[in-house]
Amino acid sequence: MINSEVRKKMVIIKDLVKSYGEHRVLNGFNMELYEGETLVIMGKSGSGKSVMIKCLIGLESHDSGTITIMNKNLDKMDADTLNEIRTEVGFLFQGSALYDSMSVRENLEFPLRRHIGKFGELDDATPLVMEALESVGLPQTIELMPEELSGGMKRRIALARTLILKPKIILYDEPTTGLDPITSKEIVLLMKSIQDKYKTSSIVITHDVDCARFIADRMILLIDGINYITGTFAELSKSDDPKVSAFFKT
Ligand SMILES: Nc1ncnc2c1ncn2[C@@H]1O[C@H](COP(=O)(O)OP(=O)(O)OP(=O)(O)O)[C@@H](O)[C@H]1O
Ligand SMILES: [Mg+2]
Repeated sequence: MINSEVRKKMVIIKDLVKSYGEHRVLNGFNMELYEGETLVIMGKSGSGKSVMIKCLIGLESHDSGTITIMNKNLDKMDADTLNEIRTEVGFLFQGSALYDSMSVRENLEFPLRRHIGKFGELDDATPLVMEALESVGLPQTIELMPEELSGGMKRRIALARTLILKPKIILYDEPTTGLDPITSKEIVLLMKSIQDKYKTSSIVITHDVDCARFIADRMILLIDGINYITGTFAELSKSDDPKVSAFFKT
């Protein structure tokens, strides 16, 4: 592991606060994502993991604190810069919905059309679509409709749709939830291979201890609205703190 002091920081979150009415979900959350690392965030259901990631991508506004993505402050970004940053940050939503009325090809072309600035006007997007499908092992599905795909395949296609813009950062919100253990393992292996191939920096929100063990370079537990503890899987899983050890009991 390279010394973290000299590693480039892709994302810095400082003292993030976010409430909905009286309900303070994030209460001074801090986080740094280093270049090339996979950072796993765990926390109980309702602890604010998805909210945190939505603030990070600017889908939700935050009350206070700062978010810096690749040296740019999210609050000070104009619409064009925010759009540009969004092409560098891929987001695999919780549930990872595909557009049901669009074919796999059309689903993958969608981000290309939306962020035309990144690759310019494309006469034929097929090579990019095929490359993304090949990296998730499903090139044969290009003309299929989502209803013709299994849950695991849909998740892979959603991942391909995230990859097509060749993002520097990928945010995964519960990438294995709802999948059987074998399919979950395949998705986690795929995430790892993508990480190795594209050298992306990733944030992975998961409840899946096996996924965390396999993929995490570092982990943060989000408890009581803060970054309660940070460390490697081995460090955190040995913790005596009952709030921490509860996550690792099987
Ligand atoms: N748009 C919203 N309006 C009001 N409350 C919200 C909104 N979005 C989220 N919340 C609340 O914020 C809290 C955190 O929600 P969040 O979705 O981040 O949880 P989570 O940690 O992702 O949980 P899970 O593991 O179940 O996905 C919850 O109490 C939720 O009800
Ligand atoms: Mg969530």
